[in-house]
Amino acid sequence: MSAAIIDGKAFAATLRERVALLVPAFEAAAGRKPGLTVVIVGEDPASQVYVRSKGKATEAAGMVSTTHRLPDTTTQDELLALVRQLNADPAVDGILVQLPLPKHLDESEVIATIDPDKDVDGFHVVNAGRLAVGQEGFVPCTPLGCIMLLEDRLGDLSGLNAVVVGRSNIVGKPMAQLLLAKSCTVTIAHSRTKDLPDVCRRADILVAAVGRPEMIKGDWIKPGATVIDVGINRVDNGEGGTKLVGDVDFASAAEVAGAITPVPGGVGPMTIAVLLRNTLVSAYRRENVALGKGAI
Ligand SMILES: NC(=O)c1ccc[n+]([C@@H]2O[C@H](COP(=O)([O-])OP(=O)(O)OC[C@H]3O[C@@H](n4cnc5c(N)ncnc54)[C@H](OP(=O)(O)O)[C@@H]3O)[C@@H](O)[C@H]2O)c1
Repeated sequence: MSAAIIDGKAFAATLRERVALLVPAFEAAAGRKPGLTVVIVGEDPASQVYVRSKGKATEAAGMVSTTHRLPDTTTQDELLALVRQLNADPAVDGILVQLPLPKHLDESEVIATIDPDKDVDGFHVVNAGRLAVGQEGFVPCTPLGCIMLLEDRLGDLSGLNAVVVGRSNIVGKPMAQLLLAKSCTVTIAHSRTKDLPDVCRRADILVAAVGRPEMIKGDWIKPGATVIDVGINRVDNGEGGTKLVGDVDFASAAEVAGAITPVPGGVGPMTIAVLLRNTLVSAYRRENVALGKGAI
């Protein structure tokens, strides 16, 4: 293996510490702690695990964590009423509605009801628009985490060829916007892209956000490229259990790439760390407390 491993777990731990260090100054100025409220509807076990770890991480950073656990039978009107109540609550800086919602609920209407200035997930169309035109807003946590890892590794990204495989609203599209804002030359690939291996081979930065286990092979990668694997796929481990793998075939890619994120331990841990960062930024903005440029 020749590639350097990009240690997202360590980077995320440092980011979480930096967030925690900025909480006391906010509390001194605003007379309260930053607050993140998570809303979860139903009993999806994976969502329950995510919500628990978000709550623990929020508290560990010295912020107030509140969780609203609603039953499967919750109606759209009840959920919207809760979101509006949280919009109006001055102690709430960040609102996160855990997705996916049960099928009878309309996710886009729920996201559209969140106050964009409390939308720490960055999913509201107002925040997508702000990102597209270069205004200050909230950027989805996973792609923002990827950019942080890339800048930490490469410094200035301008002029680099970046290929993003995947065009979802929560990863692929905002990732491409962020890379464009860093003056990369950006290509977005998707399921209709012709000759995907050839497109990938042009990338100095290759971001995989597809949801297909180990799809991207070593011979799709330009020698020395930086590879960010967003994929999280649970597959058979061949011994009767399961394991997590990314969208990139790590073993062959690591022979060619200059640097690569592992799965697990790469992009995954960044998502919660950036969520805490967005909540802190929201609190500072909402209370008009100065947060030095580049502080976080
Ligand atoms: N690390 C984290 O915290 C984190 C956060 C979010 C997601 N993820 C993981 O990231 C992956 C992507 O998530 P997502 O929410 O963006 O998924 P998604 O909404 O399912 O989008 C997948 C994208 O991949 C494209 N695609 C599918 N098959 C393809 C193929 N054979 N060739 C080229 N493109 C193909 C799709 O193209 P079309 O648009 O043409 O269908 C789509 O744009 C998943 O593994 C997910 O678990 C990780």
